[in-house]
Amino acid sequence: MKRIKIIDLIAKPTIGSEVTIKGWVRTFRSNRFIAINDGSTINNIQAVVDYEKIEESLLKRITTGSSISVFGKVIESQGKGQSIEIEVKSFEILGDANPEEFPLQPKKHSLEFLREIAHLRFRTNTFGAISRVRHSMIFAIHKFFNDKGFFNIHTPIITGSDAEGAGEMFRVTTLNLNKLPKTDTGNIDFKEDFFGKETNLTVSGQLEAELAALALGQVYTFGPTFRAENSNTTRHLAEFWMIEPEVAFNDLNDNMDLAEEMLKYCVKYALDNCTEDINFLAARLEDEDKSKPKEQRSLPLIEKLRFVVENDFVRLTYTEAIEILKRSKPNQNGQFKYQIKDWGADLQSEHERFLVEKEFKKPVILTDYPSEIKAFYMRQNDDNKTVRAMDILFPGIGEIVGGSQREERMEILKQKIKKFNIPEESVWWYLETRKFGTVPHAGFGLGFERLMLFVTGMTNIRDVIPFPRTPKNAEF
Ligand code: 4AD
Ligand code: MG
Repeated sequence: MKRIKIIDLIAKPTIGSEVTIKGWVRTFRSNRFIAINDGSTINNIQAVVDYEKIEESLLKRITTGSSISVFGKVIESQGKGQSIEIEVKSFEILGDANPEEFPLQPKKHSLEFLREIAHLRFRTNTFGAISRVRHSMIFAIHKFFNDKGFFNIHTPIITGSDAEGAGEMFRVTTLNLNKLPKTDTGNIDFKEDFFGKETNLTVSGQLEAELAALALGQVYTFGPTFRAENSNTTRHLAEFWMIEPEVAFNDLNDNMDLAEEMLKYCVKYALDNCTEDINFLAARLEDEDKSKPKEQRSLPLIEKLRFVVENDFVRLTYTEAIEILKRSKPNQNGQFKYQIKDWGADLQSEHERFLVEKEFKKPVILTDYPSEIKAFYMRQNDDNKTVRAMDILFPGIGEIVGGSQREERMEILKQKIKKFNIPEESVWWYLETRKFGTVPHAGFGLGFERLMLFVTGMTNIRDVIPFPRTPKNAEF
């Protein structure tokens, strides 16, 4: 008999019908009640066995983590907690899980411990819920852009350029590291390398997305990006996924509108379509918060999500933000690790979080940053000091989106490239879009795992991607 998924059975149960369920045993109580989960939903189905009719040796094999196929009748549940259950007629153990060795027992495991067994943590309620929400968010993002007439573009993962100019790149090479070819001047001869030049994993698909936008109008990428920054924080990964829309003829205001609309769409999509998983994650967060002092507790998850959907983001300039920060209490009494003294200072996450969580209590979009602390491609303002940049800051997260209107004027872009010490010949193809039919355009990058942190209420970015890559960690 073909198996029915638990999600479908619960959605449309026919009392009295016979079904086959396949899944993994979560718990087995009183030699009678098996809670089975098949991953299709956070909900388990309860299968009830008549232990008197079953051999002891077979009953013993129904353990947490084992896989099982049960055949039986759908009946109204006698117990609390579920509306239906299965009266088992026959069952088969598909795969044993020795309880002496299986590390996931029906008790609370710490998130740290679960990271060490990331190959099995999908089988917990928390990671099942996160994985399903992650899928829904991927789907929502594609739907959002598709419905608006954007085209998805695959940009290269191996590149010869440093899009952000930050130099935090993973090298890609096939050279023998024990016998590196050298040039006459003693440098490594990359002509001998696979691509005949220096290459790395991409830090961003933006530059290539711009090329596409300047022909297709509105495009977006959704791909893996890699940063070799040695930041061991709860918000940084060495390999993360980024969504980068790029739109011809858009200015910074259009760009902010698009980003705000997209974020609200995704959060609303989660509320509307991932209700059970979000409810579970909300309860998890509430439980976790109980052990924290009151002032460190976060808003209940669902309240926080609704708040973002229903309220306009605050928009202000970097210069205005610096004034607020300079006057702020934590700046005056030394509570910030990095005191804000002068205009031009780069904002740290403590400053971003102060603005969002204390000053405005809303998502904030900061614009017009000093050109020195932003990338070369951002459009220069008439003051010659600031650029048309924007960062979106979220409660509990800090920066979730970074973007800008792009410098479309060839001469100014060339000056900027020089100032940033970028060899012109390495970006000749990028410059040609300004030579041939240049137009104003703008785009941004959304860090997918930062969005996942916000939507799930998880606090460590290692817990919202299946197999995190961080400094000194590439297991699995
Ligand atoms: O601000 P970033 O560096 O901007 C860019 O890469 C631009 N090319 C985007 C564009 O305009 N098309 O990165 C964009 C976002 C950040 O706001 C943050 O959410 C996320 O990517 N991000 C990271 N997420 C996880 N781990 C890291 N190490 C991240 N670095 C950036
Ligand atoms: Mg940024």
